[in-house]
Amino acid sequence: MSEQPRRIGILTGGGDCPGLNAVIRAVAKAALAGGLEVLGIEDGYLGLIEDRIRPLSYADVSGILTRGGTILGSNNRANPSDYAVPDGSGGWVRRDVRDQVVENYHDAGLDVLVVIGGDGTMSGAAKLIERGLNIVGVPKTIDNDLWATEITFGHDTAVATATDALDKIHTTASSHHRVMVMELMGRNAGWLTLRAAMASGTDVILIPEIPFRMEVVAEKCLARSRKGKGFTIVAVGEGAAAVGGEQTVDKVIETSPEPVRLGGVSHHVADAIEKITGLESRAMILGHVQRGGSPTARDRVLATAFGYHAFELLVAGRFGHVVVEQAGAITSVPIAEVADRVRTVPPDDPLIAAARATGACFGDETECLDTPHNRPDAQPSAT
Ligand code: F6P
Repeated sequence: MSEQPRRIGILTGGGDCPGLNAVIRAVAKAALAGGLEVLGIEDGYLGLIEDRIRPLSYADVSGILTRGGTILGSNNRANPSDYAVPDGSGGWVRRDVRDQVVENYHDAGLDVLVVIGGDGTMSGAAKLIERGLNIVGVPKTIDNDLWATEITFGHDTAVATATDALDKIHTTASSHHRVMVMELMGRNAGWLTLRAAMASGTDVILIPEIPFRMEVVAEKCLARSRKGKGFTIVAVGEGAAAVGGEQTVDKVIETSPEPVRLGGVSHHVADAIEKITGLESRAMILGHVQRGGSPTARDRVLATAFGYHAFELLVAGRFGHVVVEQAGAITSVPIAEVADRVRTVPPDDPLIAAARATGACFGDETECLDTPHNRPDAQPSAT
Protein backbone atom coordinates (compact mmCIF):
# COMPACT_ATOMS: atom_id res chain seq x y z
CA MET A 1 0.00 0.00 0.00
CA SER A 2 1.58 3.26 -1.06
CA GLU A 3 -0.90 5.92 0.09
CA GLN A 4 -1.51 6.80 3.72
CA PRO A 5 -3.71 4.35 5.68
CA ARG A 6 -7.33 5.38 6.16
CA ARG A 7 -8.60 2.67 8.48
CA ILE A 8 -6.57 1.17 11.31
CA GLY A 9 -7.28 -1.70 13.69
CA ILE A 10 -6.00 -2.06 17.25
CA LEU A 11 -5.72 -5.23 19.33
CA THR A 12 -4.23 -6.12 22.70
CA GLY A 13 -2.77 -9.64 22.92
CA GLY A 14 -1.19 -11.86 25.57
CA GLY A 15 -1.42 -11.37 29.32
CA ASP A 16 -2.84 -7.97 30.18
CA CYS A 17 -0.91 -5.29 32.03
CA PRO A 18 -1.40 -1.73 33.26
CA GLY A 19 -1.01 0.82 30.46
CA LEU A 20 -2.79 -1.05 27.64
CA ASN A 21 -5.66 1.44 27.69
CA ALA A 22 -3.20 4.32 27.64
CA VAL A 23 -1.72 2.97 24.38
CA ILE A 24 -5.15 2.36 22.84
CA ARG A 25 -6.07 5.93 23.76
CA ALA A 26 -2.87 7.41 22.33
CA VAL A 27 -3.05 5.56 19.01
CA ALA A 28 -6.80 6.12 18.59
CA LYS A 29 -6.83 9.79 19.59
CA ALA A 30 -3.91 10.62 17.30
CA ALA A 31 -5.49 8.66 14.44
CA LEU A 32 -8.99 10.10 14.87
CA ALA A 33 -7.56 13.61 15.07
CA GLY A 34 -5.73 12.87 11.82
CA GLY A 35 -8.98 11.88 10.12
CA LEU A 36 -8.40 8.11 10.20
CA GLU A 37 -11.04 5.53 11.12
CA VAL A 38 -10.24 3.29 14.07
CA LEU A 39 -11.53 -0.23 14.69
CA GLY A 40 -11.02 -2.19 17.89
CA ILE A 41 -10.48 -5.96 17.71
CA GLU A 42 -11.78 -7.85 20.74
CA ASP A 43 -9.70 -10.33 22.75
CA GLY A 44 -6.47 -10.12 20.79
CA TYR A 45 -5.98 -12.41 17.79
CA LEU A 46 -9.07 -14.33 18.85
CA GLY A 47 -11.27 -11.42 17.75
CA LEU A 48 -9.46 -11.35 14.42
CA ILE A 49 -10.05 -15.09 13.97
CA GLU A 50 -13.71 -14.84 15.02
CA ASP A 51 -14.35 -11.52 13.27
CA ARG A 52 -15.22 -9.56 16.39
CA ILE A 53 -14.27 -6.08 15.27
CA ARG A 54 -16.00 -2.81 16.22
CA PRO A 55 -15.50 0.90 15.51
CA LEU A 56 -13.82 2.97 18.21
CA SER A 57 -14.98 6.55 18.61
CA TYR A 58 -13.34 9.41 20.49
CA ALA A 59 -15.80 8.78 23.37
CA ASP A 60 -14.73 5.11 23.54
CA VAL A 61 -11.11 6.03 24.17
CA SER A 62 -11.66 9.05 26.36
CA GLY A 63 -11.26 8.69 30.14
CA ILE A 64 -9.30 5.42 29.96
CA LEU A 65 -5.74 6.68 30.49
CA THR A 66 -5.63 5.68 34.14
CA ARG A 67 -7.60 2.46 33.88
CA GLY A 68 -5.87 -0.94 34.25
CA GLY A 69 -6.74 -3.86 31.97
CA THR A 70 -7.84 -3.29 28.39
CA ILE A 71 -11.17 -2.06 27.03
CA LEU A 72 -10.66 -4.44 24.09
CA GLY A 73 -10.09 -7.60 26.13
CA SER A 74 -7.06 -9.85 25.67
CA ASN A 75 -6.19 -13.47 25.15
CA ASN A 76 -2.94 -15.43 25.44
CA ARG A 77 -4.11 -18.63 23.75
CA ALA A 78 -4.78 -17.55 20.17
CA ASN A 79 -1.83 -17.49 17.79
CA PRO A 80 -3.36 -17.63 14.26
CA SER A 81 -0.55 -19.77 12.82
CA ASP A 82 -0.75 -22.24 15.72
CA TYR A 83 -4.35 -22.19 16.88
CA ALA A 84 -5.83 -24.99 18.98
CA VAL A 85 -9.23 -26.28 17.83
CA PRO A 86 -11.22 -29.27 19.18
CA ASP A 87 -10.22 -32.52 17.42
CA GLY A 88 -13.73 -33.98 17.75
CA SER A 89 -12.76 -36.61 20.31
CA GLY A 90 -12.23 -34.49 23.40
CA GLY A 91 -8.71 -33.35 22.53
CA TRP A 92 -7.13 -30.50 20.59
CA VAL A 93 -5.38 -30.17 17.30
CA ARG A 94 -3.26 -27.24 16.07
CA ARG A 95 -4.36 -25.43 12.91
CA ASP A 96 -3.00 -22.56 10.87
CA VAL A 97 -5.99 -20.20 10.60
CA ARG A 98 -4.14 -17.28 9.03
CA ASP A 99 -6.29 -17.43 5.86
CA GLN A 100 -9.33 -16.66 7.99
CA VAL A 101 -7.51 -13.78 9.68
CA VAL A 102 -6.36 -12.31 6.37
CA GLU A 103 -9.94 -12.51 5.05
CA ASN A 104 -11.39 -10.79 8.14
CA TYR A 105 -8.72 -8.09 7.99
CA HIS A 106 -9.59 -7.29 4.37
CA ASP A 107 -13.37 -7.60 4.91
CA ALA A 108 -13.07 -5.00 7.69
CA GLY A 109 -11.27 -2.73 5.23
CA LEU A 110 -8.20 -2.46 7.43
CA ASP A 111 -5.09 -0.81 6.02
CA VAL A 112 -2.93 -1.52 9.05
CA LEU A 113 -3.16 -3.26 12.40
CA VAL A 114 -1.56 -2.04 15.63
CA VAL A 115 -0.80 -5.04 17.84
CA ILE A 116 -0.04 -4.27 21.46
CA GLY A 117 1.55 -7.30 23.08
CA GLY A 118 4.54 -9.24 24.32
CA ASP A 119 6.81 -11.81 22.71
CA GLY A 120 3.98 -14.23 21.86
CA THR A 121 1.95 -11.47 20.20
CA MET A 122 4.98 -10.27 18.22
CA SER A 123 5.72 -13.86 17.08
CA GLY A 124 2.10 -14.07 15.91
CA ALA A 125 2.49 -10.72 14.14
CA ALA A 126 5.62 -11.89 12.31
CA LYS A 127 3.63 -14.83 10.91
CA LEU A 128 0.83 -12.51 9.74
CA ILE A 129 3.32 -10.13 8.10
CA GLU A 130 4.47 -13.15 6.05
CA ARG A 131 0.90 -13.26 4.73
CA GLY A 132 0.98 -9.63 3.68
CA LEU A 133 -0.73 -7.88 6.59
CA ASN A 134 0.47 -4.39 7.50
CA ILE A 135 1.33 -4.44 11.20
CA VAL A 136 2.89 -2.05 13.69
CA GLY A 137 3.79 -3.45 17.13
CA VAL A 138 3.82 -1.88 20.59
CA PRO A 139 5.61 -3.84 23.33
CA LYS A 140 3.87 -4.55 26.62
CA THR A 141 4.50 -6.94 29.48
CA ILE A 142 5.03 -6.82 33.21
CA ASP A 143 7.93 -9.24 32.61
CA ASN A 144 9.97 -6.65 30.66
CA ASP A 145 11.39 -9.52 28.61
CA LEU A 146 10.78 -8.29 25.07
CA TRP A 147 13.89 -8.39 22.92
CA ALA A 148 15.37 -5.09 21.66
CA THR A 149 13.62 -2.76 24.08
CA GLU A 150 15.06 -1.61 27.37
CA ILE A 151 11.64 -1.24 28.86
CA THR A 152 8.05 -2.29 28.27
CA PHE A 153 5.11 -0.44 29.77
CA GLY A 154 3.33 -2.31 32.57
CA HIS A 155 6.63 -3.32 34.14
CA ASP A 156 6.98 -0.25 36.33
CA THR A 157 3.49 -0.68 37.78
CA ALA A 158 4.09 -4.37 38.46
CA VAL A 159 7.39 -3.52 40.18
CA ALA A 160 5.56 -0.97 42.35
CA THR A 161 2.86 -3.51 43.26
CA ALA A 162 5.42 -6.20 44.08
CA THR A 163 7.53 -3.74 46.07
CA ASP A 164 4.51 -2.75 48.13
CA ALA A 165 3.78 -6.42 48.84
CA LEU A 166 7.40 -7.07 49.87
CA ASP A 167 7.36 -4.01 52.12
CA LYS A 168 4.24 -5.31 53.81
CA ILE A 169 5.64 -8.79 54.25
CA HIS A 170 8.62 -7.25 56.10
CA THR A 171 6.48 -6.19 59.03
CA THR A 172 4.76 -9.51 59.57
CA ALA A 173 8.05 -11.39 59.06
CA SER A 174 9.61 -9.21 61.73
CA SER A 175 6.75 -9.67 64.20
CA HIS A 176 6.84 -13.46 63.92
CA HIS A 177 10.60 -13.87 63.44
CA ARG A 178 9.98 -15.83 60.28
CA VAL A 179 11.48 -16.40 56.88
CA MET A 180 8.96 -15.16 54.32
CA VAL A 181 9.36 -16.33 50.74
CA MET A 182 7.45 -14.29 48.18
CA GLU A 183 7.07 -15.57 44.62
CA LEU A 184 6.78 -13.03 41.82
CA MET A 185 5.87 -13.35 38.13
CA GLY A 186 8.18 -12.84 35.16
CA ARG A 187 8.41 -16.27 33.51
CA ASN A 188 12.02 -16.85 32.44
CA ALA A 189 13.11 -13.29 33.13
CA GLY A 190 14.07 -11.98 36.56
CA TRP A 191 13.59 -8.23 35.93
CA LEU A 192 10.42 -7.90 37.98
CA THR A 193 11.79 -9.87 40.93
CA LEU A 194 15.16 -8.14 40.82
CA ARG A 195 13.76 -4.60 40.73
CA ALA A 196 11.02 -5.14 43.34
CA ALA A 197 13.44 -6.97 45.64
CA MET A 198 16.01 -4.20 45.36
CA ALA A 199 13.38 -1.54 45.96
CA SER A 200 12.30 -3.32 49.10
CA GLY A 201 15.78 -4.20 50.42
CA THR A 202 15.06 -7.92 50.19
CA ASP A 203 17.73 -10.19 51.71
CA VAL A 204 17.65 -13.06 49.21
CA ILE A 205 16.84 -12.64 45.50
CA LEU A 206 16.35 -15.76 43.41
CA ILE A 207 15.94 -15.23 39.68
CA PRO A 208 15.78 -17.63 36.72
CA GLU A 209 19.06 -16.37 35.28
CA ILE A 210 21.06 -17.39 38.38
CA PRO A 211 20.50 -21.01 39.51
CA PHE A 212 20.61 -21.09 43.32
CA ARG A 213 21.96 -23.49 45.93
CA MET A 214 19.52 -24.18 48.74
CA GLU A 215 22.29 -24.53 51.32
CA VAL A 216 23.54 -21.02 50.45
CA VAL A 217 20.05 -19.55 50.87
CA ALA A 218 19.64 -21.38 54.19
CA GLU A 219 23.03 -20.18 55.41
CA LYS A 220 22.09 -16.57 54.56
CA CYS A 221 18.98 -16.92 56.74
CA LEU A 222 21.06 -18.37 59.59
CA ALA A 223 23.68 -15.64 59.21
CA ARG A 224 20.96 -13.03 59.65
CA SER A 225 19.73 -14.84 62.78
CA ARG A 226 23.26 -14.96 64.17
CA LYS A 227 23.66 -11.22 63.83
CA GLY A 228 20.37 -10.63 65.61
CA LYS A 229 18.06 -10.17 62.65
CA GLY A 230 15.06 -12.24 63.56
CA PHE A 231 13.61 -12.52 60.07
CA THR A 232 14.58 -12.91 56.43
CA ILE A 233 12.74 -11.95 53.25
CA VAL A 234 13.27 -14.04 50.13
CA ALA A 235 11.97 -12.86 46.75
CA VAL A 236 11.83 -15.65 44.19
CA GLY A 237 10.95 -15.31 40.51
CA GLU A 238 8.50 -17.97 39.37
CA GLY A 239 11.05 -19.27 36.84
CA ALA A 240 13.93 -19.64 39.32
CA ALA A 241 15.40 -23.10 39.89
CA ALA A 242 18.14 -24.70 41.95
CA VAL A 243 21.45 -25.63 40.34
CA GLY A 244 20.81 -28.79 38.32
CA GLY A 245 17.08 -28.59 39.12
CA GLU A 246 14.04 -27.83 37.02
CA GLN A 247 11.57 -24.97 37.01
CA THR A 248 8.36 -25.54 38.98
CA VAL A 249 5.35 -25.91 36.69
CA ASP A 250 1.93 -24.95 38.01
CA LYS A 251 -0.10 -26.13 35.03
CA VAL A 252 0.07 -26.94 31.36
CA ILE A 253 -2.56 -25.30 29.19
CA GLU A 254 -2.86 -27.43 26.09
CA THR A 255 -4.61 -24.77 24.01
CA SER A 256 -1.96 -22.12 24.62
CA PRO A 257 0.88 -21.52 22.12
CA GLU A 258 3.14 -21.39 25.19
CA PRO A 259 1.46 -24.09 27.29
CA VAL A 260 3.60 -24.01 30.46
CA ARG A 261 2.50 -21.83 33.38
CA LEU A 262 5.16 -21.58 36.06
CA GLY A 263 4.34 -21.41 39.76
CA GLY A 264 5.00 -22.96 43.14
CA VAL A 265 8.76 -22.64 43.54
CA SER A 266 8.26 -20.49 46.68
CA HIS A 267 6.73 -23.47 48.51
CA HIS A 268 9.75 -25.67 47.77
CA VAL A 269 12.11 -22.90 48.87
CA ALA A 270 10.22 -22.16 52.12
CA ASP A 271 9.95 -25.87 53.01
CA ALA A 272 13.65 -26.43 52.37
CA ILE A 273 14.68 -23.38 54.42
CA GLU A 274 12.58 -24.55 57.38
CA LYS A 275 13.97 -28.07 57.11
CA ILE A 276 17.61 -27.03 56.88
CA THR A 277 17.58 -24.13 59.36
CA GLY A 278 14.73 -24.89 61.74
CA LEU A 279 13.54 -21.31 61.18
CA GLU A 280 9.78 -21.00 60.76
CA SER A 281 9.08 -20.20 57.10
CA ARG A 282 6.09 -19.25 55.00
CA ALA A 283 5.55 -19.00 51.25
CA MET A 284 3.23 -16.75 49.31
CA ILE A 285 2.55 -16.34 45.61
CA LEU A 286 1.64 -12.77 44.70
CA GLY A 287 0.11 -13.83 41.37
CA HIS A 288 -2.05 -11.86 39.01
CA VAL A 289 -2.40 -8.87 41.31
CA GLN A 290 0.91 -7.86 39.67
CA ARG A 291 -0.92 -7.39 36.38
CA GLY A 292 -3.71 -5.28 37.82
CA GLY A 293 -4.44 -1.74 38.86
CA SER A 294 -3.94 1.72 37.50
CA PRO A 295 -0.62 2.31 35.69
CA THR A 296 2.06 4.36 37.42
CA ALA A 297 2.78 7.85 36.07
CA ARG A 298 5.89 6.44 34.37
CA ASP A 299 3.88 3.71 32.61
CA ARG A 300 1.20 6.21 31.53
CA VAL A 301 3.84 8.43 29.96
CA LEU A 302 5.68 5.50 28.34
CA ALA A 303 2.45 3.97 27.00
CA THR A 304 1.37 7.31 25.55
CA ALA A 305 4.77 7.92 23.95
CA PHE A 306 4.88 4.35 22.55
CA GLY A 307 1.31 4.67 21.23
CA TYR A 308 2.06 7.98 19.54
CA HIS A 309 5.23 6.57 17.97
CA ALA A 310 3.19 3.65 16.62
CA PHE A 311 0.86 6.21 15.02
CA GLU A 312 3.83 8.01 13.48
CA LEU A 313 5.14 4.72 12.08
CA LEU A 314 1.85 3.77 10.48
CA VAL A 315 1.34 7.22 8.96
CA ALA A 316 4.85 6.98 7.51
CA GLY A 317 4.03 3.53 6.11
CA ARG A 318 6.77 1.93 8.21
CA PHE A 319 4.93 -1.35 8.62
CA GLY A 320 6.42 -4.49 10.12
CA HIS A 321 8.10 -2.50 12.87
CA VAL A 322 7.69 -2.58 16.63
CA VAL A 323 8.24 0.45 18.84
CA VAL A 324 11.16 0.08 21.26
CA GLU A 325 13.19 2.16 23.67
CA GLN A 326 16.94 2.03 23.16
CA ALA A 327 19.49 4.15 25.02
CA GLY A 328 16.57 6.12 26.44
CA ALA A 329 15.18 7.07 23.01
CA ILE A 330 11.98 5.81 21.41
CA THR A 331 12.60 4.19 18.05
CA SER A 332 11.59 0.99 16.24
CA VAL A 333 13.02 -2.29 14.96
CA PRO A 334 11.60 -4.93 12.59
CA ILE A 335 9.08 -7.21 14.33
CA ALA A 336 10.93 -10.22 12.87
CA GLU A 337 13.91 -9.21 14.99
CA VAL A 338 12.01 -9.56 18.29
CA ALA A 339 9.84 -12.58 17.41
CA ASP A 340 10.65 -15.78 19.32
CA ARG A 341 13.30 -14.09 21.46
CA VAL A 342 13.27 -12.96 25.07
CA ARG A 343 15.50 -10.55 26.96
CA THR A 344 16.60 -11.97 30.28
CA VAL A 345 18.78 -10.38 32.98
CA PRO A 346 22.48 -10.64 32.02
CA PRO A 347 24.51 -12.06 34.94
CA ASP A 348 26.76 -8.99 34.75
CA ASP A 349 23.88 -6.52 34.86
CA PRO A 350 24.85 -3.52 37.02
CA LEU A 351 21.70 -4.00 39.12
CA ILE A 352 22.96 -7.38 40.27
CA ALA A 353 26.30 -5.90 41.32
CA ALA A 354 24.50 -3.11 43.20
CA ALA A 355 22.22 -5.58 44.97
CA ARG A 356 25.13 -7.81 45.99
CA ALA A 357 27.11 -4.81 47.22
CA THR A 358 24.25 -3.80 49.48
CA GLY A 359 23.91 -7.21 51.08
CA ALA A 360 21.54 -9.19 48.87
CA CYS A 361 22.29 -12.86 48.34
CA PHE A 362 21.45 -14.52 45.01
CA GLY A 363 21.98 -17.98 46.47
CA ASP A 364 24.67 -18.78 43.97
CA GLU A 365 27.95 -18.56 45.79
CA THR A 366 29.23 -19.03 49.27
CA GLU A 367 31.32 -15.84 48.97
CA CYS A 368 28.19 -13.81 49.46
CA LEU A 369 28.03 -15.17 53.00
CA ASP A 370 31.53 -14.09 53.85
CA THR A 371 30.90 -10.39 53.51
CA PRO A 372 30.63 -7.72 56.19
CA HIS A 373 26.85 -7.77 55.64
CA ASN A 374 26.63 -11.27 57.09
CA ARG A 375 29.17 -11.23 59.91
CA PRO A 376 27.71 -11.11 63.42
CA ASP A 377 29.63 -7.89 64.22
CA ALA A 378 28.12 -6.07 61.22
CA GLN A 379 26.02 -3.03 61.88
CA PRO A 380 22.31 -3.77 61.35
CA SER A 381 21.23 -2.97 57.81
CA ALA A 382 18.34 -0.69 56.94
CA THR A 383 15.86 -3.52 56.62
O1 F6P B 1 3.72 -12.75 30.72
C1 F6P B 1 2.95 -12.20 31.75
C2 F6P B 1 2.60 -13.23 32.80
O2 F6P B 1 1.90 -12.60 33.84
C3 F6P B 1 3.81 -13.98 33.35
O3 F6P B 1 4.55 -13.23 34.27
C4 F6P B 1 3.14 -15.21 33.91
O4 F6P B 1 4.02 -16.30 33.97
C5 F6P B 1 2.04 -15.49 32.92
O5 F6P B 1 1.78 -14.25 32.25
C6 F6P B 1 0.77 -16.00 33.53
O6 F6P B 1 -0.11 -16.33 32.51
P1 F6P B 1 -1.67 -16.58 32.76
O7 F6P B 1 -2.34 -15.26 32.86
O8 F6P B 1 -2.09 -17.35 31.56
O9 F6P B 1 -1.80 -17.36 34.03
